[in-house]
Amino acid sequence: MTDFVIAPSILAADFARLGEEVTAVLAAGADMIHFDVMDNHYVPNLTVGPMVAKALRNFGITAPIDVHLMVEPVDEMISQFAAVGVDYITFHPEASRHVDRSLQLIKDAGCKAGLVLNPGTEVDSIKTLLPQLDMLLLMSVNPGFGGQKFIPYVVDKVRQARAAIDATGKAIRLQVDGGVTADNIANIAAAGADTFVAGSAIFGKANYALAIAALREQLAQSQLKGC
Ligand code: DX5
Ligand code: ZN
Repeated sequence: MTDFVIAPSILAADFARLGEEVTAVLAAGADMIHFDVMDNHYVPNLTVGPMVAKALRNFGITAPIDVHLMVEPVDEMISQFAAVGVDYITFHPEASRHVDRSLQLIKDAGCKAGLVLNPGTEVDSIKTLLPQLDMLLLMSVNPGFGGQKFIPYVVDKVRQARAAIDATGKAIRLQVDGGVTADNIANIAAAGADTFVAGSAIFGKANYALAIAALREQLAQSQLKGC
């Protein structure tokens, strides 16, 4: 059985009550918190930084925090997020001038490292770096905004990425982010993803526990079909 991870994206949470929102979604069965960081430079939107991750830790959140950096450049933010005690740090390779160095920075700081590929970026483009990763994130929308529609051709990229990860023989998580819902999660899992970001599909619902249960039910179905 694949060990599936569901990571609600804070982008769809009520930022005025972020500590409570994160507490509620964890109590509702989330495994990890997806923390979207935008700088109005790499993407045309602006969210939150390391101080807010620190505030969540101070609030008592001990669950893994998965920082998705949509910023350019990345190295200073890597150092600041690592200092706050987050778990994963992922970034877009085109946002760093020295991608290998940025990955080492994350690892040397004791965090898990990942790269994020935009919908139009080929899986093959990071083949050399793949063995160094703890997680590969495939974007299934163009980064910058929550609530967008899943781009269907990304399912093929999930298959390619699964094959490439399996060929390394390493335990690298394969995460999909953008437009994930109870209607498409089984298909994405069947293609080989094991870690799912969902913003609107969880925080956009009135009952977080029911929303997460609906996603898990679909994941269980995808396993039963023997895909
Ligand atoms: C988009 C972000 C995603 C997004 C997911 O740039 O990286 O994490 O918030 O939100 P939904 O699930 O609503 O597409
Ligand atoms: Zn994200």
